[in-house]
Amino acid sequence: MTVARRLRVGVLVSGRGSNLQAILDTSAAGRLSADVVVVLSDVADAYALERARQRNIPALFEDPKAHPTREAFDKALIGHLEQHRVDLVCLAGFMRLLTPAFVAHYRHRIMNIHPALLPAFPGLHVQRKALQHGVKFTGCTVHFVDEGTDTGPIIIQAVVPVLNDDTEEALSVRILRYEHHIYARAIQLFAEGRLQVRGRRVICAPAPDGGTPPDFGGLNP
Ligand code: GRF
Repeated sequence: MTVARRLRVGVLVSGRGSNLQAILDTSAAGRLSADVVVVLSDVADAYALERARQRNIPALFEDPKAHPTREAFDKALIGHLEQHRVDLVCLAGFMRLLTPAFVAHYRHRIMNIHPALLPAFPGLHVQRKALQHGVKFTGCTVHFVDEGTDTGPIIIQAVVPVLNDDTEEALSVRILRYEHHIYARAIQLFAEGRLQVRGRRVICAPAPDGGTPPDFGGLNP
């Protein structure tokens, strides 16, 4: 009997790490064919590092100021990721733009989670921008990372309604619940080898056993 190899995931963080926690919890619950094998931060006291250490996962701070260029910093990150034989890199609240060399090294093997329905509202403070614009629906997006900011091929999105009395905080919290679901889902689809990038489109193959559909029916919490 052959045992399928589990996907080795490296997570890049800068802050509180609730998406990291959701990935760790989904994996620990046996609902992910993937293990987080290293967590890297560009911020020394990111709480996400603490979350990783609580699970005995190597958690490293790489100081951007210790490198003369962005390329050198990214090279150091690649060194850590290669040392841990990472198959997939997940950005989870990582606040730096990766260099083209990093993106090329892990082409279509880097995912990011963004708290808006891309291509609407890329960049920062996007829940505030959604409220200011007056959209009735926003949401979150998991996408592959390319050389741009929040521009790569889209893997999964979840739609979240904007309520009349929403504040930036309330909307962010509501979106975050969906982020935690769709990020783990995207990683699982990748682990199952079901994601194929065709130009800007990510095609999701049906499950071999006809099981879980590639859409997110029933996923919304
Ligand atoms: C999330 O809203 C994510 O979409 C964005 O940054 C935030 C990170 O939150 N990229 P956390 O650190 O995962 O709690």
